Amino acid sequence: MASVSDRAESYWMDSTAPTAYPPVDGDVEVDVAVVGGGIAGLCAAWELARAGRRVAVFEADRIVAGTTGYTTAKLTAQHGLIYDRLRSSLGADTARWYARSQLDAIERVAAVAAELGIDCDLERLPAFTYATSADGAEQVRAEVEAASAAGLPASLVTETGLPFEVAAAIRVEDQAQFHPRRYLLALADDLTHQGGQIFERTRITDLDEGEPCRLTTESGATVSARDVVVATHYPIFDRASLFTRLVPRRELVVAAPIAAADDPAGMYLTTEDNTRSVRTAPYRDGQRLLIVTGEHFKPGTEGVEDRWHRLATWTRERFKVDALAYHWAAQDNTTPDRVPFVGPFHPGADHVYVATGFNAWGMTSGVMAGRLLAALIGGAKPEWAGVYDPRRIHVKAEAGTFLKANLAVARHFIGDRLRTSHVDSPDELAAGQGAVIRLHGERCAVYRDTTGTLHAVSATCTHLGCTVAFNDAERSWDCPCHGSRFDPDGSVLHGPATQPLPERPL
Ligand code: FES
Repeated sequence: MASVSDRAESYWMDSTAPTAYPPVDGDVEVDVAVVGGGIAGLCAAWELARAGRRVAVFEADRIVAGTTGYTTAKLTAQHGLIYDRLRSSLGADTARWYARSQLDAIERVAAVAAELGIDCDLERLPAFTYATSADGAEQVRAEVEAASAAGLPASLVTETGLPFEVAAAIRVEDQAQFHPRRYLLALADDLTHQGGQIFERTRITDLDEGEPCRLTTESGATVSARDVVVATHYPIFDRASLFTRLVPRRELVVAAPIAAADDPAGMYLTTEDNTRSVRTAPYRDGQRLLIVTGEHFKPGTEGVEDRWHRLATWTRERFKVDALAYHWAAQDNTTPDRVPFVGPFHPGADHVYVATGFNAWGMTSGVMAGRLLAALIGGAKPEWAGVYDPRRIHVKAEAGTFLKANLAVARHFIGDRLRTSHVDSPDELAAGQGAVIRLHGERCAVYRDTTGTLHAVSATCTHLGCTVAFNDAERSWDCPCHGSRFDPDGSVLHGPATQPLPERPL
């Protein structure tokens, strides 16, 4: 199958220089240790440094190069059809606080970008959620009413900038979009000028909660901190069994240059067609880069390459696109009530905080999380703290998704062990193919690379023991239970796993 585009890379990554912060080379003592250098971790660190705390960020790979480097980078409080759902399941107050906190995050980015003079292509635009079906239009109408009641500047429209008709859309004014890496790399730079420290290629492997807390790095260094923020996307330490309440999903992105005259001039989303999200960004030669996201699926699901081609076809059929320039993928975690977990990690946590479960809205939620955690660590309690508190349990709102997610994990844990592979021997694998094959009595993840060389690693995920599956488009081993991803050589691409899949002899 032909490649979707010339570059299997995110535009945000491709258009910025890589970072080169040093790894930790000795013990560290700070007020706050932030684990994870994505948007939530960096925003928390920056807010804390600004409040006069001694802060250090520890990133296992490179900062702003995980999910934050692969987002669609919409800064909006209009999160699909959420307000009607929030109001009916969690109440009008929760919907209002949610809206207010997310709007606050947009204004925070605008204010900080202006104050620090960050050139991050920040553009103020309306955000739309549209439907093309009659049923969908009914849901949109209900959403307009709920979003307005929650305080969003929302209206019902049928005219949009899209080059096709919609049955109805909610339009929310004065939202924003930006270049996430340009913004966050500048924030990181400013953090170091305020005395904050950033360590890359520094994996934290252990956390001892106490006064102070102690973290251990892979290299054996110790970090002492009064407070710890775990902002690793999927939490690497799970003291509250959050893994039973987080469902990972992967989403695909394609991007293509379009003429400025064809710019739909807004940020768009529909939950139809397995979700389609559209925005543009400034691009070279006066063009705009059209960025289309969709086709979400559970990690470990087969047929990723086909999904990518479906998304590319959808894009070509609706926009004047000559050729796709980029394609990439991102991973999100969904919470049962669709509200992120931001706050004290578990019921007994005095000094350990978590930020996770952004439900595909990581830009505003990441900025909000940074603000909220900095406030909590400083002893304040913003009005919306309770909405995001990870210790909440909304039995009615969570029960269905919770049960479904955990049944799926149980099914994978047991069923995938019993499943027979479509391949009996590594000899049957063509170049670029991978399969779970029993070798020497053990299930192994075997991959033949494009030069014909075979690689074999254990197929048992090092997080909690589910069996990984091959992702044919990204050439990775993905775990269907909580979304850990591994390179064919076994190294960790995406947590919650922190340990590689051990190599196995062929
Ligand atoms: Fe949890 Fe694999 S990610 S078992």
